[in-house]
Amino acid sequence: MASVTFDKATRLYPGGDKPAVDQLELEIEDGEFLVLVGPSGCGKSTSLRMLAGLEDVNGGSIRIGDRDVTHLPPKDRDIAMVFQNYALYPHMSVADNMGFALKIAGVDKGTIRKKVEEAADILDLRPYLDRKPKALSGGQRQRVAMGRAIVRQPQVFLMDEPLSNLDAKLRVSTRTQIAGLQRRLGITTVYVTHDQVEAMTMGDRVAVLKDGLLQQVDTPRNMYDRPANLFVAGFIGSPAMNLVEVPITDGGVKFGDSVVPVSREALSAAADAGDRTVTVGVRPEHFDLAETGGLTIDVNVVEELGADGYVYGSTPAEKGAQDLVVRVNGRHVPEKGSSLHVVPRADEIHVFSTSSGERLSD
Ligand SMILES: Nc1ncnc2c1ncn2[C@@H]1O[C@H](COP(=O)(O)OP(=O)(O)OP(=O)(O)O)[C@@H](O)[C@H]1O
Ligand SMILES: [Mg+2]
Repeated sequence: MASVTFDKATRLYPGGDKPAVDQLELEIEDGEFLVLVGPSGCGKSTSLRMLAGLEDVNGGSIRIGDRDVTHLPPKDRDIAMVFQNYALYPHMSVADNMGFALKIAGVDKGTIRKKVEEAADILDLRPYLDRKPKALSGGQRQRVAMGRAIVRQPQVFLMDEPLSNLDAKLRVSTRTQIAGLQRRLGITTVYVTHDQVEAMTMGDRVAVLKDGLLQQVDTPRNMYDRPANLFVAGFIGSPAMNLVEVPITDGGVKFGDSVVPVSREALSAAADAGDRTVTVGVRPEHFDLAETGGLTIDVNVVEELGADGYVYGSTPAEKGAQDLVVRVNGRHVPEKGSSLHVVPRADEIHVFSTSSGERLSD
């Protein structure tokens, strides 16, 4: 087992004008489950493929443990990769698919059979070992792809959106299985997804990428509680954090008809940048309903989810028609078409620089 280090690793595709992955710095601990997440085209697969040796590294380096693997061929890196489309051999049985890499490596038949059976037991695939992949369900094929990675007992697992061919329900159960399996095997894993919920539920830590640039690496809890910039604030969390540009006043910010206190450090940092506003982030669960004051919102849609309700509203047109989402008690949801006063809880707000997008509050 081993740690993984991206040391300013950069990939510039031939003919590209900017790197697909730009000086990525990331340290993944031995046994850790790290999830790389970000929107389409942000460089997730490229990062993974650089680690796998499937993509050249044009700057910086990559290490597995203390081995510099930057220019090693894939087969010498001791990794196993699970792809989105599973890439199973259709003419081979499940057992042969799982044992194929060991066969190529010249491992004897008895040992291969033993390792394949062990992996099949872990993944509940025993009854299917003699079938061809086409006679399996999507979820079973996915497990065969995992099994093929497990039998190799690599130092590092790489997974690129391995659940994206599964239906919603199977995705949820399979992601729990994969996370549990990884914890049991203790193999360092880098997992790519564009789904922030998947990232937050599976990862020991989550790394958010945008346009080839690493935005933040953190535990799911810290990522949610202290997003480093506006991009992460808007990307992590569902429904998304409300982001409202508000004027700076004495000791705080003017949030509709209320003044919400903000730390002096945050306000002076904004003033130093020449800004007259800051952008305040408020998660839907961090508003209080008030009789008066705060922001007035007109209720457009109410989503009732039992315990909770989500109110989708907007401020009146003459006040800029800002859209907001507010979580309310599911037993006391407001009427569609009514209006509400909402005030953010001062100790739960996030303050960002309007000009740079960086976090200003602690
Ligand atoms: N072989 C290639 N040649 C040139 N450009 C490429 C190549 N592969 C990817 N790119 C570009 O590099 C950037 C990053 O691509 P990458 O596949 O890493 O994104 P991704 O985050 O995995 O996206 P997705 O979620 O859609 O899979 C994109 O702008 C893409 O167009
Ligand atoms: Mg990709």
